[in-house]
Amino acid sequence: MEAAVIGGTGVYDLSPGSRTETVNTRYGAVQVDIVKVGVKEVAFLARHGKSHSVPPHLINYRANMKALKELGVKYIYASAAVGSCNCRFAPGDIVVITDFIDFTKARLATFYDGGEEGVAHVDMSDPYCKNLRKRFYDAANREGLNIKGDAVYVCTEGPRFETAHEIKMYRQLGGDVVGMTSVPEAVLAKELGMCYAAVGIITNWCTGIDSEGVKLHDIKGLMAKTGEKLTRVFVKVLTGDLSQENCSCAGALVKM
Ligand code: HPA
Repeated sequence: MEAAVIGGTGVYDLSPGSRTETVNTRYGAVQVDIVKVGVKEVAFLARHGKSHSVPPHLINYRANMKALKELGVKYIYASAAVGSCNCRFAPGDIVVITDFIDFTKARLATFYDGGEEGVAHVDMSDPYCKNLRKRFYDAANREGLNIKGDAVYVCTEGPRFETAHEIKMYRQLGGDVVGMTSVPEAVLAKELGMCYAAVGIITNWCTGIDSEGVKLHDIKGLMAKTGEKLTRVFVKVLTGDLSQENCSCAGALVKM
């Protein structure tokens, strides 16, 4: 199958008729739900595991992305819970991620560690596929799903939340939303030549923005309600006509 949805916190089930496959990769085994939509199939991956038991800093990102590649996936939409450090984006809003700033510290973030795979560098001028982003906006518009705008994602190592001064710094650097999972997910997708776009669901104001601490706004309810609508829009695009002619994702890897 050519299409996949990666669900963040709370966005797990696509339909009751789905089947689960275990994909064995050299990085580990991954469980993927496969759902038939019309004549197409869509793979559905819960990045934190089906029972949300893997914290963001311990997710096996390489196994997850390799498993999708091995299933034949070329197009991926991902959703993720994020905090907002931009007053324009409030809890409950949906934003389209256009770029990231990476503050992760201890993750395996590439398939190219020398050795068998060799040395390679990947172009990050369009980390979130511009073709999938445009198609998402068009479909959300048609489906009546309100998207608040484009946002720059700051990826932290977690699992702790940020300090107030860290958030102040991220704002000064141009960050709009903060999460713990988009890096290395977006990078690995690009290394594998897959189109990948991500959408953030804002669950809270970041530390120091509105009060002293992080208050998660009914995260499960929010993700269930918004996540379901979002998944419908993702699937609409993914089961339509797609090609890699309008983006540079398939050729972003430069092997040395
Ligand atoms: N910070 C980091 N990750 C998050 C947050 C946050 O405020 N909210 C949801 N994921």
